[in-house]
Amino acid sequence: MSDVDLKSVEARTLKAEKEAKLIEEELEKLARGDLSFVSDPQLDKLLSENEKLKHRLAILENAIKAESSKGVSKPKKRPTLITDIMSIEGTICVMDELKNIFAIAIELAYPDLDDPPVVITLSGNNPKFGDYQCNSAMPISQLLKAKNVKTNPREVANNILNKTPSSPLVDKVEVAGAGFLNIYLNRTFAEHVLNCILRFGVKPPPVKRNRIVVDFSSPNIAKEMHVGHLRSTIIGDSICRVLEFLNHDVLRINHLGDWGTQFGMLIAHLQEKFPNYKTHSPPISDLQAFYKESKTRFDEDEEFKKRAYLCVVELQSGNPDYTAAWKLICEVSRQEFQKVYDRLDIKIIDRGESFYQSRMDAVVKELKEKGLLEEDEGRLIMWGSAERTGIPLTIVKSGGGYTYDTSDMATIKQRVEEEKCGRFIYVTDVGQYTHFATIDMCARRAGILKNGLKMEHVGFGVVLGEDKKKFKTRSGDTIKLIDLMDEGLRRALDKLVEKGRDKVLTPEELKLAQEAVAYGCIKYADLSHNRINDYIFSFDKMLDDKGNTAVYLLYALTRIQSISRTAQVSLDALLKEAGKTSIKLTHESEWKLGKVLLRFPDVILKVTGDLFLHSLCEYLYEISSTFTEFYDKCYCVEKDKGGNIVKIFYERLMLCEVTARVMTKCFEILGIKTVSKM
Ligand code: ARG
Repeated sequence: MSDVDLKSVEARTLKAEKEAKLIEEELEKLARGDLSFVSDPQLDKLLSENEKLKHRLAILENAIKAESSKGVSKPKKRPTLITDIMSIEGTICVMDELKNIFAIAIELAYPDLDDPPVVITLSGNNPKFGDYQCNSAMPISQLLKAKNVKTNPREVANNILNKTPSSPLVDKVEVAGAGFLNIYLNRTFAEHVLNCILRFGVKPPPVKRNRIVVDFSSPNIAKEMHVGHLRSTIIGDSICRVLEFLNHDVLRINHLGDWGTQFGMLIAHLQEKFPNYKTHSPPISDLQAFYKESKTRFDEDEEFKKRAYLCVVELQSGNPDYTAAWKLICEVSRQEFQKVYDRLDIKIIDRGESFYQSRMDAVVKELKEKGLLEEDEGRLIMWGSAERTGIPLTIVKSGGGYTYDTSDMATIKQRVEEEKCGRFIYVTDVGQYTHFATIDMCARRAGILKNGLKMEHVGFGVVLGEDKKKFKTRSGDTIKLIDLMDEGLRRALDKLVEKGRDKVLTPEELKLAQEAVAYGCIKYADLSHNRINDYIFSFDKMLDDKGNTAVYLLYALTRIQSISRTAQVSLDALLKEAGKTSIKLTHESEWKLGKVLLRFPDVILKVTGDLFLHSLCEYLYEISSTFTEFYDKCYCVEKDKGGNIVKIFYERLMLCEVTARVMTKCFEILGIKTVSKM
């Protein structure tokens, strides 16, 4: 069936549907009225008409279903390819462009295949296999076999090769082995892109701008911000940074746990212990202890418990005195959290659960009206699907109160309807996976989340100590984040002193290096592991100056930056030289480094999609090891026996500069401060 036919089927279905509805309405009216109508010949006619129409409707609906499951092929829009190197200003995704090139080749070679797979991969380290590969020939030959076409992958590969459009990115394509297409990149193109980075800086690949909410960190008031929140803070911040680099409109939200029953308890305790709290700041700097005291009373003293419940009611209905007490408690907590954010250079907007109080009322009303809530032992619950699978949300507790579930339903509604966001990211431990999956399903059922939109849960594993048990202090207490950071600072300084850096750096430089290493190593250790896995916190490992660690990479960067310095070539001088000459990728190890640097936009786009930051860390490490190889083999500066400079290879200094810039950008996205000396 063609598109036109399908359209007319759709139109007829619509018409039949309308007619059937009209008749049904008519029948309903009759049914409500006089029953003597039942024998009316007019009614009989209507009834049989209605049956016929229903039958026709069913046939048409089936026809549509059959057609759409076949996937009616719409004319495909061909991607536009890059034809002129000069049109590139330094931000080109090689992987994407190759996908476009081969999508066209495959479409030309096999126009009858629906959605044939376009598989492009990096070729790995063996230059025999080219730089990239197109591995579509095998699956396509399978598809053809299923259609009874006799062929083999090698033949398919040759057919694709014959239709491959030429591109300034590609030097040559060869068929190899059983049917691989080996792709060799063009050096002139690569040199041009690197020269652009030298001229314009590291630019983001162009993407469609989106408004994205990232819900991260989100500790709970009056409770300790623990290592789980630290992970959320580090991962969430880095996700924001990569999205901001791509020029998205990012809303960094701290969904603080600042609402709920524990506040009744805290307020009741505060009112009694410090009745003049409004004029004199009470000594609750140790909120933890304060929380514990009130909790003990709550558990032991019935009178107190009653009063605490009353306090919650007062607070939630907006009583100014209670609100003032609550604000004070939140403020004390906030100041503690802020210390962590300041040290880690985290920007975030506080918008706790309390923000949603009136919106929770509204969403509960909406869910009730839509008939989505069910009573269950006094509670009101909501299932993710009509089949009632999984675990339902508790929307209203038996006492009438709201829950974490209610607040997340109100939150997603606010983010869709008021913030008008197009992407919703939540960074919490993997333990909350089911919670967010259920919220997503319920929001979809309620019509809050429509087709293209979904909630993305960025989960991470738990933090373990070196003994692989829960991360605790030696005495078994939970570790305070501030203490952890202080230890990081201490250890970082030890490391720098051990390497004798205190003798070469000024006190200011040493302090900058100490902080960069301390906070950098904590962040990098977290980000460089696959976030899904549990992660072992070990200062010894993260401060190792060998391997994939922040210390090693920060050192590598300062070394690269110092190459020009020892050659006494300033950046200005280097850029002036760039007017006369430009980066050349002649030597094999220059070429290898160049190709790694070229991959930056591809790595960024991958991270933006799957939100796994360890691939960016692996890439950073790969740059630094490829650079080491290059630096071993290629002189940047030639000196005589007396150590005097006899020749400067400006093109190579330029390559060093571009390497440093790409590395710096990676560090920036990871939220790690770099230093020029350490
Ligand atoms: N406060 C929560 C916790 O400590 C995390 C909140 C995450 N965000 C959300 N919208 N539920 O586990």
